[in-house]
Amino acid sequence: MSRSGGESPVSVRWNGGADGQLELLDQTRLPAAVEWIACRDVAAVIEAIRSLRVRGAPAIGIAGAYGVVVAAGEAIRAGLAPAPARAHVLLAAAELAEARPTAVNLRWAVERVLRVIEPPDARSTAASATDIAARLLDEAVAIHEEDRRLCAAIGRYGADILPEGDVLTHCNTGALATGGDGTALAVITTAWADGRRFQVWADETRPLFQGARLTAWELVQRGIPVTVLVDSAAGHLLATGRIGCCIVGADRVTANGDTANKIGTYGLAVLAAAHDVPFYVAAPSSTFDLAIIEGAEIPIEHRGAAEVTSPWGQAVAPEGAGAFNPAFDVTPARLIRGIVTERGVISPVTREQVARVLGAG
Ligand code: MRU
Repeated sequence: MSRSGGESPVSVRWNGGADGQLELLDQTRLPAAVEWIACRDVAAVIEAIRSLRVRGAPAIGIAGAYGVVVAAGEAIRAGLAPAPARAHVLLAAAELAEARPTAVNLRWAVERVLRVIEPPDARSTAASATDIAARLLDEAVAIHEEDRRLCAAIGRYGADILPEGDVLTHCNTGALATGGDGTALAVITTAWADGRRFQVWADETRPLFQGARLTAWELVQRGIPVTVLVDSAAGHLLATGRIGCCIVGADRVTANGDTANKIGTYGLAVLAAAHDVPFYVAAPSSTFDLAIIEGAEIPIEHRGAAEVTSPWGQAVAPEGAGAFNPAFDVTPARLIRGIVTERGVISPVTREQVARVLGAG
């Protein structure tokens, strides 16, 4: 791999025509193994999203969109007539949209692909399963390709404002999490490709280690220096004064700029504020949920106890101990210096600026 940034890995791909299959790089196996799984039915897509084989807000949106095409493929193979084929796709889409609750990209992408087969278009209701699948696939591919461009634009806007000094990030926001180079990680890799030199510090990101397993994997492949730290070392690291900024991704941003992201993000933002280190979020417009005014309204996914009490099947807590395992938390807008989007940087982070940059007000 090149030392100047290199190629980004691909984590989601479609193989074949309208009745083809969704293929996912199984992120639960990284960094030990690079393995692809094939999803030929909707149940497999939902399982992959729930178990984080595919993860990261934009990537689960793209997988969800292709998942709707997979549903149409099921209808083709079952020989369903137009009306039952359409009903099957709508039902599967509703299940896909609910596979994970916090990242709004999933619902956004599923709703967007469905719009191409919506009535009152008479052609829609009469369309054969093959026709439906072809239309859905075109739209899913469009979402995928668009995300590639959004990542590039976010990388460019963010690199232009990235402060001097080392960069601290949380979770994984790279190519694995998107259809392109990433969001927060694209800012880092774009700045690196510009010739900027710094150390990237990656929170390991308990309990599922997306920072250690995935962000470090991506950066090592690209030849960008990365150091992994346990999440609880972030305060000590910030106190050294070497961190120029923190930058993270988002799963849902509300109209006032409050941001849901991987658990631990809020704590990191509080620490950054205490040390006067600017805290940035990077996210495409598809991650904004302008129907929600503030962060308290964002549904937070809670996951199983075993992720905390016995990671990889190894008990680290006694039997009988409970576990608190929210997958996300909400960082209030006042702790965020700027939100980097594909349309520009929202700063200060206020309801007015969100509306102005996103062109929604
Ligand atoms: O549970 P995950 O791994 O899907 O959580 C991912 C995150 O929190 C990311 O920071 C976010 O989705 C942004 S990805 C560009």
